[in-house]
Amino acid sequence: MITKNRIINALAIFIMLWSMGCKDSITSGDKIVQEKFRPQFHFTPEKAWMNDPNGMVFYEGEYHLFYQYFPDSTVWGPMHWGHAVSTDLIHWEHLPIALYPDSLGYIFSGSAVVDINNTSGLGTEDNPPLIAIYTYHHIEKERAGKIDYQYQGIAFSLDKGRTWTKYAHNPVLPNPGIRDFRDPKVFWHQDTQKWIMILAVQDRIHLYSSKNLKEWSFESEFGQENGAHGGVWECPDLFKIKVNASSEEKWVMLLSINPGGPNGGSATQYFVGDFDGNTFVPDHNSVKWIDFGKDNYAGVTWSDIPETDGRRLFIGWMSNWQYGQEVPTETWRSAMTLPRNLELINAEGDYLLTSMPVAEFDTLKKDKVEINDFRFSGQKEMELKNFNLMSSEINVTLEPMEASQNGDATSFGIILENESKEVLKIGYDVLAKQFFVDRNGVDKVFKHTGYLNKAVAPYVMNKSMKLKIILDTSSIEIFVDDGQLVMTEVLFPDYPFNSFSFFSNLGSIDVKQTEFVEIESIW
Ligand code: FRU
Repeated sequence: MITKNRIINALAIFIMLWSMGCKDSITSGDKIVQEKFRPQFHFTPEKAWMNDPNGMVFYEGEYHLFYQYFPDSTVWGPMHWGHAVSTDLIHWEHLPIALYPDSLGYIFSGSAVVDINNTSGLGTEDNPPLIAIYTYHHIEKERAGKIDYQYQGIAFSLDKGRTWTKYAHNPVLPNPGIRDFRDPKVFWHQDTQKWIMILAVQDRIHLYSSKNLKEWSFESEFGQENGAHGGVWECPDLFKIKVNASSEEKWVMLLSINPGGPNGGSATQYFVGDFDGNTFVPDHNSVKWIDFGKDNYAGVTWSDIPETDGRRLFIGWMSNWQYGQEVPTETWRSAMTLPRNLELINAEGDYLLTSMPVAEFDTLKKDKVEINDFRFSGQKEMELKNFNLMSSEINVTLEPMEASQNGDATSFGIILENESKEVLKIGYDVLAKQFFVDRNGVDKVFKHTGYLNKAVAPYVMNKSMKLKIILDTSSIEIFVDDGQLVMTEVLFPDYPFNSFSFFSNLGSIDVKQTEFVEIESIW
């Protein structure tokens, strides 16, 4: 006889087996979450080596993120395009590798566009193709001492980026006899009704145009006299953007440079100017950096963000070629920065590109601890019981009182410490007029000289300094004064930071609008 109890038992066993089955299917995720330096809310590949973000495009409700990927090792090697999609820029679904190396070479960095009018003829009017435009790098040619081993190819997808077909007549832009000739970013130029390709060519830019993405003509060169030239130029971008609180529009060019960054190794500079479909004319000759930290490289922006959204969305590789291949992670290497929204402001006649985390990041915010405003001098540790600093956002405004300067010790800011007595110091040096992130004291695990470093940025504080600090397991992102100054740095502390103090060598500081917010894991 089937009794009620038996049914309940059978149900219980079924639920137990079912939940074990579920558990099994997330074991790999569990392992990932527990890895020592695994970021909890930054994009990382599940395993193996990753560098530049590539081919970011928005299509039919999905943000695509491709990336330089070598699936067989945790150091750089034959490049593929890894692939992930997201509907909110925060939670990512890992998809199969999109592009594999072929007889023309490794698949280096590039971009992707929606060819909405099917100008390429590679799709149909009803099903326009996604087109990826990338650099081929022919390693044997390079090893043989040739210089023409980089050229541009395209691939297309007719199924929302799930599968890709390489164009049969690649390359679409052969090498003209120039050693560094790579990283095409393509966009539709409305006024002249043509595609524009911006390409990094040694330490300058070449612009090309096309009607169909398959045949390209040279338009102009830019950069010989402009910007920083401490290394080769890579991963450019060019886009139109509205100046905040005005109807004015400008063009912004992003350009990564390696080496030659302001704090050593890789970094990304930008220019503000005008572009008429042929020539880019900058407004300034000064060097501007999108981020003064050591770990934001090769960042570019998403294509085809709907006008109704209107944002200029950016993501960068959160590493540096100085030490990226040596960082102490075991199963994978590198993460991306948080996706950021770029805005152009007119700061007393000077255009400034600001970066802030995208609003979608707010959906990960959990418990918030708000602190009443207070004043301190010397050092003041915050009491944070059961608060996970290593997955947190901290907002605070620091306002020095009358500066009672003590010799040349004139800095104030924040100190993070852990059980190994490792120390991370962040702050502002009033005399030097520099903001700084000093990770020299986070030195127990990773000892690379490029990593053990104090990164500084020119900064002139007005009355106070407003900070947004985002800490993940192995990174810190600092947005000063609503993103007017950004510092992004990787961190490999021996133990998680569990102590947070304010410090001042300067006299009293008012600490205002302080909040500590825990951030949920995306795994
Ligand atoms: C930038 C870069 C690109 C190149 C890619 C190769 O980090 O050097 O110029 O396309 O990485 O992986």
